[in-house]
Amino acid sequence: MTANLRVAVVGSGFMGSLHARTVAECEIARLAAIVDSSEEAGRAAADAFSTEHISTVDDALSRKDIDAFIVAVPDRLHETAIPILEKGVPVLLEKPMAHDLPAAKRLAQAAEKAGAPLLVGHILRFDPRYVQAAAIVASGDIGDPIHATSGRLTVRDIGIRMNGTSSVCFYLGVHDVDLLQWLSGANVTKVFSRRVSKLMPSLGVQSEDAIFTVCEMENGLVGTLFFGWSLPSDIPTGIWSRSEVIGTKGVVDIDVRDHGLRVKDPGGWRLPDGLHWPEVNGRIAGDLREEVVHFVSAVQKQQPFVMPVDDALRAVAVNDAILRSCESGAQEAVEDWRL
Ligand SMILES: NC(=O)c1ccc[n+]([C@@H]2O[C@H](COP(=O)([O-])OP(=O)(O)OC[C@H]3O[C@@H](n4cnc5c(N)ncnc54)[C@H](O)[C@@H]3O)[C@@H](O)[C@H]2O)c1
Repeated sequence: MTANLRVAVVGSGFMGSLHARTVAECEIARLAAIVDSSEEAGRAAADAFSTEHISTVDDALSRKDIDAFIVAVPDRLHETAIPILEKGVPVLLEKPMAHDLPAAKRLAQAAEKAGAPLLVGHILRFDPRYVQAAAIVASGDIGDPIHATSGRLTVRDIGIRMNGTSSVCFYLGVHDVDLLQWLSGANVTKVFSRRVSKLMPSLGVQSEDAIFTVCEMENGLVGTLFFGWSLPSDIPTGIWSRSEVIGTKGVVDIDVRDHGLRVKDPGGWRLPDGLHWPEVNGRIAGDLREEVVHFVSAVQKQQPFVMPVDDALRAVAVNDAILRSCESGAQEAVEDWRL
């Protein structure tokens, strides 16, 4: 392996382009190629980053000059990473790990069998606010957690763009499903969920607008989750999110409707991203850069990733139960996600 990890990015859409730029700007990595089944999208991204476009994962795997892959294809296509993992090659796979638990387990099994390092890109695991909150709860400073909540709302444009290809609980809510369990330190065991579908169908999109969930959790906790793509397009911030854990001795509370920077210009008010992937001094900084640097450096040093695959599987298992509960109208148990 060369000093700089040679990383190919699979999928050059919204998230893949951000990953490609982050890799290109990373001192310990090199952008080896863009892999995209769309000739047009792949070539445009490869040209933008002065790298090569490869059409298929199989072609990329036949190359000797790629050490690792970042896979950022749509949620239902995450098994695209299986042939890579089967060859023992490291993968940073965008969240959610997969669109259902059986697919997530197939990915985990492929990684385990071949000993391939697999990091699922739960980006908030690299955000200083959530990392500190998880450490504070784990330290016992707020006492024994009693109840917890996590949720996010985003603009309707995202739901329209997804056009039914992913549920709001997988594309968006999987962040909160992970946060609820990671921050509180307790697994969700049962869920009771309700969804509302008024806006999206009125726009010709076969999707829910939002899902609300009450969770039974280990250690006697009760949790709540909410996620939706129902906000008006002209809201000043892309994400309204809130996470909190209430304990016997204290509270942690994270409010992310505002990153501290407020701008009023002729277009109106804006609250720009200051944490997830802001541009700082000409390059992508924040959580995404932390995630990519962690992936690259852990692979190079052969160290474990900060987020175990088990936690990503757990989030998918909860999401499956949420969708089952929306369908059945009853409380649903979370299936065992462990291999
Ligand atoms: N971490 C975050 O905050 C965050 C934010 C948005 C999206 N995501 C995740 O990123 C992933 C990609 O989402 P997106 O919105 O960027 O999607 P997108 O639709 O914008 O882009 C997907 C790209 O993948 C390409 N593609 C599809 N099938 C392929 C295949 N088999 N091989 C190679 N290329 C293929 C498409 O041509 C397209 O260019 C999803 O899993 C999504 O949940 C994460």
